[in-house]
Amino acid sequence: MEIRTMIETDQEAAAIQTDLQAINPPCNPCVMLIFGASGDLTGRLLVPALYNLACDRLLDENFALLGTARKPLTTEQFRERMSNDIKKFHTREEFDQAVWDKLVSRFHYMPGDFRDLSVFRKLRGEVAKLDAQYKAQGNVLIYLATAPGFFGVICNNLHDSGFKDDPGWKRIIVEKPFGTDLKSAIELNKEILAHWDENHIYRVDHYLGKETVQNLLAFRFSNAIFEPLWNKHHIDNIQFNVAEAVDVEGRGEYYDQSGVLRDMIQNHMFQMLAYLCMETPVSLKPDDIRNDKAKLLQSVRIYTPAEVAGYVVRGQYGPQLDETGKVVKPGYREEKNVDPRSNTETFTAARLHIDNGRWEGVPIYLRSGKALWKRGTEIVVEFKKAAAAPFNDTQVRKPGSNRLIFHIQPHQGIEMHFYAKIPGPKLQLQPVHMCFGYGEAFKASRYTGYEVMIYSCSHGDATLFSRGDLVETGWRIAQPILDYWSTAPPPEFPNYARGSWGPKAAADLIQREGRHWHEVVSEEMLRKVAIFKDGDSLFLLQVMMTLRPRQAAAGETIIQKGDIGREMYLLVRGEVEVMGDGSGVVETLKEGAFFGEIALLLSTPRNASVRAKTSCDLFVLDKADFDRILYDHPQFAQGVAMVARDRYNLNLCSLSLLGYQKCMDRLALSPTEGPSCFWMGEKPFA
Ligand code: BG6
Repeated sequence: MEIRTMIETDQEAAAIQTDLQAINPPCNPCVMLIFGASGDLTGRLLVPALYNLACDRLLDENFALLGTARKPLTTEQFRERMSNDIKKFHTREEFDQAVWDKLVSRFHYMPGDFRDLSVFRKLRGEVAKLDAQYKAQGNVLIYLATAPGFFGVICNNLHDSGFKDDPGWKRIIVEKPFGTDLKSAIELNKEILAHWDENHIYRVDHYLGKETVQNLLAFRFSNAIFEPLWNKHHIDNIQFNVAEAVDVEGRGEYYDQSGVLRDMIQNHMFQMLAYLCMETPVSLKPDDIRNDKAKLLQSVRIYTPAEVAGYVVRGQYGPQLDETGKVVKPGYREEKNVDPRSNTETFTAARLHIDNGRWEGVPIYLRSGKALWKRGTEIVVEFKKAAAAPFNDTQVRKPGSNRLIFHIQPHQGIEMHFYAKIPGPKLQLQPVHMCFGYGEAFKASRYTGYEVMIYSCSHGDATLFSRGDLVETGWRIAQPILDYWSTAPPPEFPNYARGSWGPKAAADLIQREGRHWHEVVSEEMLRKVAIFKDGDSLFLLQVMMTLRPRQAAAGETIIQKGDIGREMYLLVRGEVEVMGDGSGVVETLKEGAFFGEIALLLSTPRNASVRAKTSCDLFVLDKADFDRILYDHPQFAQGVAMVARDRYNLNLCSLSLLGYQKCMDRLALSPTEGPSCFWMGEKPFA
C-alpha cells in the first residue's frame, strides 16, 4: 500500500488549516485601542505579542490598532517607531518581514490628553471609521497601558463619550499596579465599575500569561496521582521563590513608592499561590476558577502586628564593592530617583498560614527580591519524610523528603526529587531526580506572555485576568504588613549585598522552623566554584542534589576549632578567615573556595576556627554526601586532597606533628607524589 506523506491538494491543505483553526480560532475581529501607546509597554511587549499572534495566524484581517497618547505623533511616525521596536523586541528566531509589513499597515495613531472628553469623542469617531474599514463588527478591545492614575478618568471618559452605546463588545484591559494599598484598590474598583460591569474589565497580571504558571492548573487537575497527596497529610511545606538578578533598572521613582511587597508579592506571587493551593474547580469556566482562587486567598491568615513581626522580614540591597572597597554598582539608596534615606524594601520573605482544612499547619514560604545572585522563579513542594522504621538499626542513611519543583522561569519544567538505591551489593540511598523540560517536550516559539491575554480578552475569556474581589483580597493580606512597616523601626538598611541570597534574616525565618530554603542551583552556577569547574555533568548533578544553603553574618564563627567536623563548606559569596592559634588570621578565603574538608578526611576534630569576614552565602555538604562523592568521583577527591595537602603545609606550625603525620598517612601523599595515589591505601571513606 502506498503511504502518502505529502499534502497533495489545495483542498487537503485547506482542510488541515480548518481543523487547526477549530482548535485555535483566531482572535475575534476588533479594533484595539491602546491608551499610552507611545510608552514602553506597547513597543516592548504588546506589539511583539500582536506580531507573534499574526505569525501564528491567530490575528486575522479584521483587526486594526489605534494608538493614543499625549505625544504628538502621526500615524506614519507611530508605525516607524513600532517598526524600530519590533526589531529589538520580537521573540522569534527569525523575523518575518512580510507578516510585519501587513500588521503594521493596520496600525494608526491619534494624539490626545486622556483628561479631555472631547479627545474621547474624536477617538470614538476614529474607531468607528476603522471599524468600517476593517469590518471589526463594532468590537473594541481597550488597553490601558498608562500610569495607574489615569485608569479611573479614562473609564469615565470612555463611558461619557458614548463608547458603550455603539454596537459590538467593549472590553477594557487594565494594567498593573491595581491600587497601591487596600483603600486605593477599593476606590479604583469603585471608579472603574461606576459605569462598566465586572465582565467588561480585564485586570492583567502578566504572570498568568506565563505557560508555566498556567501549567500549574493543568498539572494539578489532569494528573490524578498528585491530587490525593495535595494536602496537610502529605505536604510538609511549600516555598515560592521569585529571585531577580536585576536591580530597579532606572525605575527608582516608581519603585521607591512601591517595594517588592506591592510590586511582586501582592499580585504575581499571590496568583501563583492561589493556583497551587486552591480547591478543585467544578469546571474551567472563568468564574468557577476565579471563585476557588478567591476562596483560597480568603483563607490566608490576616496577620496581627505581632505576627507580621514574627513571620515577615524585609531587606534592601547595598552597593557592590571591588577588592579595594570602591563602589562598582550602587546600593538601592544610591539609585537614581531613590530617597537616600529610603526604607523601601527590595526583598521580602514571609511565612503565611492558610487556615483551611486542606492546608492547616502547612507553612507557606514566599521570598522575592531584586539584585539577588540569580534570576529564577521556582515553586518547591516539599513532601513529608518517609517513615524511618525500615532503616532503623541499619547503616542505611535515612531518606530525606521528596520534592516536586515547578521551574517557572528562566528554566521551564518540572522536577521530582526522590531516593534511589546506589548500585552495589549493599543497600544505600542517594537522592536523584526526574525532569520534564518544556523546551525538550514541546516545540513552540517563545512568547512574551501578552499574546494569551489579548487572545483571551478578544474571546471574552476572563480566566487569566484578576477579578475585583480577588485583587482586594490580595491587598487585605498585604495591608497589615504595610501598616506595620510604616510604624515599626526598619532593620538596619542596607542588609544584603548585591548578588547575594538576600538578608540573613530570611534564612533565620525558615530555620527557626527547622527547615531551609531550597536553592535551585544550575550546573553553570556550580562551575563557578573552582573545584567543580571541570566536573562532568553526572558528578555535578550528584553534588547539586545534596547541597544545603547556609548564610553567615560578618563576624560569625562558622567552624570552631576542636569541634567534631560533620560538614564541608563551599563559599559562594563573601570572605572567611581561617584563624590560627591565638587570634591571628592564617588565611583569608574568597568566593569559590571550600573549607572544612580536613576534619572530614581525617575524622579528627576541627584543627582551626573559621570566621566570616563579611556576610557570606555558603553551601554545606554533609559528611555522608562528601564521603559518597569522594568515593564515586576520584577526580574530585584529587582536587580536595591537593588543597588539603597545601593547607596542611601552610598550617604546619599550628598542627601537632602527630596530626600532620596522620593526615599524610590517610591521604597517602608525599610532596613528590601526585595526589592520584589518594585511593591506593584502604578506602578511608566507605
Ligand atoms: C513586574 C515588576 O510586574 O514584574 C518588575 O514591576 C519585575 O519589577 C517584573 O521585574 C518581573 O517579571 P518577570 O516576568 O521578568 O518575572
